[in-house]
Amino acid sequence: VHWTAEEKQLITSVWGKVNVEECGAEALARLLIVYPWTQRFFSSFGNLSSPTAIIGNPKVRAHGRKVLTSFGEAVKNLDNIKATFSKLSELHCEKLHVDPENFRLLGDILIIVLASHFARDFTPACQFAWQKLVGVVAHALARKYH
Ligand code: HEM
Repeated sequence: VHWTAEEKQLITSVWGKVNVEECGAEALARLLIVYPWTQRFFSSFGNLSSPTAIIGNPKVRAHGRKVLTSFGEAVKNLDNIKATFSKLSELHCEKLHVDPENFRLLGDILIIVLASHFARDFTPACQFAWQKLVGVVAHALARKYH
């Protein structure tokens, strides 16, 4: 993947404003609410019986933070995303057997979270750069399936 200087700038400027704990929790909660079949990977997380339960579930919050922190490694390593997620790809593909479609869904959810938090900054050009990023991350995570 090639990143223009503008794309890099648009990605890092939004990322600099992200509260990883808040946005991570919201993104994972939305994934579990909007695409309920993703709940089956998180049966050890306890009560996921309603949107309120999911949003208030401390394990969802903690894991959302972990996932978005990890996503931040992509932002820091834009030119090396495949290698950055090589181990995580093994985990998700070979151990957890997460269908790679779910990586794309989480990426789209993250875009919605960012757009709703940073409406003014999230211009079409900015969305373009982020959409490209979540696509590259999804691809890198799905790599061990190929
Ligand atoms: C665990 C990152 C998407 C399911 C993890 C961990 C990280 C991570 C950092 C912890 C690994 C460890 O403990 O060593 C990501 C990133 C994603 C992503 C960056 C996409 C941007 C998904 C999706 C699903 C999923 C879409 C399923 C729908 C899981 C599960 C675990 C896990 C089940 C283990 C949870 C546990 O029991 O602790 N992921 N993940 N991940 N991920 Fe993901």
